[in-house]
Amino acid sequence: MVRRSLFVRNPASLSLELGSPRLSQSSPSRSGAFDSAADPRVEQFAESISFDQVLATHDIRGSMAHARMLAAQGLITADEGQQIVAGLKQIGGQIAAGQFAWQSRLEDIHMHIEQALIDQLGDIGRKLHTARSRNDQVATDLRLWVREQGGAIDGLLVKLQKAWVCRCEQDADVVVPAYTHLRRAQPVLAAHVWLAWVEKLERDRERLRDCLRRANVSPLGCAAVAGTSLPIDRGATARELGFDSVSNNSIDATSDRDFLLEFAFVLSLIALHLSAWAEEWILWSTTEYGFLELPHAFCTGSSIMPQKINPDVLELIRGKSARVCGALQTLLMLTKGLPLAYHRDLQEDKPPVFDAARTVRACLELAEPVIAGSRLNTATIAARIEDGFLDATALMEYLIRRGLPQRSAHHLVGELVSEASRGGHRLRDFPLEEFRRHSLLVENSVYDVLGAANAVAALVSHGSSGPAEVHMQLRAWQNRLASL
Ligand code: ARG
Repeated sequence: MVRRSLFVRNPASLSLELGSPRLSQSSPSRSGAFDSAADPRVEQFAESISFDQVLATHDIRGSMAHARMLAAQGLITADEGQQIVAGLKQIGGQIAAGQFAWQSRLEDIHMHIEQALIDQLGDIGRKLHTARSRNDQVATDLRLWVREQGGAIDGLLVKLQKAWVCRCEQDADVVVPAYTHLRRAQPVLAAHVWLAWVEKLERDRERLRDCLRRANVSPLGCAAVAGTSLPIDRGATARELGFDSVSNNSIDATSDRDFLLEFAFVLSLIALHLSAWAEEWILWSTTEYGFLELPHAFCTGSSIMPQKINPDVLELIRGKSARVCGALQTLLMLTKGLPLAYHRDLQEDKPPVFDAARTVRACLELAEPVIAGSRLNTATIAARIEDGFLDATALMEYLIRRGLPQRSAHHLVGELVSEASRGGHRLRDFPLEEFRRHSLLVENSVYDVLGAANAVAALVSHGSSGPAEVHMQLRAWQNRLASL
């Protein structure tokens, strides 16, 4: 086989060569420098079209902006620019309609769309890749994708926050035990528990917003690594694509995947929050707790035990968080030792992060109806709310208010708890004389803080479960979410 010259002296002959039957069997990324087509095993090994099809719309948008810029800069004619944009639009339509033929020979989404354009427009299509490389192209596509996914996920987070706020209104006065170490700790309003999740989701939204701010910078026009000698206008493409700014270093911008790692971390934390909630509600819905009835539409049965109504959706939300955190781990390892700048390793960034976003969206979508459709077993909760001395801390603080040092009050209430425990009764069942045998600071008013309901009502600090506090927080969330 004749070895081709490394230097193409006549650009016109290049287009002829690319159109030749022999090379058309090979990837368009293989220039005249190659003396053979790729081994079929390489094609299969190196292709990414099986997963980066997801980027079709983003790639087309980026190409349209690029073509318009090339025309505005006189690098192609206005007519060529219009033909390219129209051609891209048509290709987008074919892809959306499922009428586009994918082939591993064309490696990735970028090559597929460019080749389809060339098939349509010939030499005009061959001009689209002017002053551009797949290295800045894929970075652009991914940033557009992160922005789009981030927007969708933010919307789902808000929906979930609204579902929690709705539950707060529904379960307004229900008192439940708060646990630490999974041991009964203090009584709280159910709404206070629900708003804890709203706060966590709000931080998820903030982190997402922050991540999207750094992601929304245009790498387009950085080309392969060094930029270009052609007079492009990076600001124009950035503006058209809705980026806030352009990247200032072509080496950094083509190698940077920080935005993707940040996104994977944001997704991981959302998944962990959902997982922790799922775990809590799995416990709350057991016969042992009996606090919660899950909607049967989101439960599954057992093939052998007819009585079983299993919380599979919650279990899967908990389980799928592993995949999302795994995606973050993959990206961390993928990028850990890469010298500057683009390396093909980076193609491996896509499957995990695509999967993570898809998974988190699915989990958020299913969490909402589970939250909205579950029912608190208020009778069961109330029947056992006086178990576990949830009012012990309230009694201790009563003594502190009357002048007893905290450590002494702590010790004294511990003795009372032990005594009541032995006697098989509650703290509020002690007669006043018994309290006063321990401390003369105790008066009849002690009964106003004893019992779960009184102990909750006694809470006053900012952010506490005191009814006034919780209602204030709830109103703030209602107002905040109403405008979204
Ligand atoms: N499919 C590639 C990726 O996802 C696109 C960039 C390829 N660039 C290159 N120089 N081979 O990373």
